[in-house]
Amino acid sequence: MQTTTIDKREDTDTRDTLERLEREFAADSPFAQPLTGRAVVQARGLTRTYGKGDAAVHALTGVDIDIAAGRLTAIMGPSGSGKSTLMHILAGLDEPTGGTVWIDGAEITRLKEKKLTQLRRDKVGFIFQSFNLLATLSADENIVLPLSLARRQADEAWRRAVIEAVGLQDRLTHRPAELSGGQQQRVAVARALITRPAVLFADEPTGNLDSRTGGEVLDLLRRSVDEFGQTVIMVTHDVGAASIADRVVFLKDGRIVLDRARMTRDAIYDTIKNLETPAAKPVARVAVEV
Ligand SMILES: Nc1ncnc2c1ncn2[C@@H]1O[C@H](COP(=O)(O)OP(=O)(O)OP(=O)(O)O)[C@@H](O)[C@H]1O
Ligand SMILES: [Mg+2]
Repeated sequence: MQTTTIDKREDTDTRDTLERLEREFAADSPFAQPLTGRAVVQARGLTRTYGKGDAAVHALTGVDIDIAAGRLTAIMGPSGSGKSTLMHILAGLDEPTGGTVWIDGAEITRLKEKKLTQLRRDKVGFIFQSFNLLATLSADENIVLPLSLARRQADEAWRRAVIEAVGLQDRLTHRPAELSGGQQQRVAVARALITRPAVLFADEPTGNLDSRTGGEVLDLLRRSVDEFGQTVIMVTHDVGAASIADRVVFLKDGRIVLDRARMTRDAIYDTIKNLETPAAKPVARVAVEV
């Protein structure tokens, strides 16, 4: 009984201190918005098992996560740790074996295919490693494709703002084959932003780009958060990419092992090296409240 009381007091003290530090940090720092905010994506108790019996692979073994609005979150971890599986489930592209996901308050794990497709179209944007543009369409047609599919008109001012942000004004009539890799990925970023999605998912967005063009795409994602208030979740192996994130979540063996606000390149590099060492001790999880 005695112990419980002491623990409770310590908890309250710790929470008060954290809240105070967070307020001070938010007031002092030019780029620090508080880490608290509305959760656009939430997941509880996510599991995903591929296959059955002896051949079963437990890709996710119990993931809880809240993604705050208007922040850039990076998901990192060794190959096979479950990053793409988690991203696909959070985006409603795959179903979990167990657990629940909400996007913008809607429980997507309960939705039937038709409603889920509609919700994805309205609320979710995607950027893939391999750009996934339609070869027969111009850059401009690719950008407005999500609107065309939904039979929605582009808001002209927004379309112009997005095209200007990605710097493709003089490439709009070009087909993907006539664009560089970096330009193609910028078309993909514009296509993802055009519907003003509640959340934009990017799986290795710089994986097929050299460091300079990759840097341009990252700069664009960062600006979409800072200037348009976009919420972005990015899976990446790239230490530089993760260092522009507001928060870095590390997975290992299908669970979150570390969850940190903004990290330096060196800290990210050290953490990844530690996680990739099979004998490494488990890292304590530090929750980032949203
Ligand atoms: N369709 C599938 N069928 C069976 N196993 C799968 C399937 N997809 C993924 N897995 C397994 O689930 C685990 C997690 O895979 P996932 O693709 O999520 O990892 P990842 O962290 O994205 O890896 P990488 O960094 O290599 O992209 C791996 O062991 C993988 O082999
Ligand atoms: Mg992957």
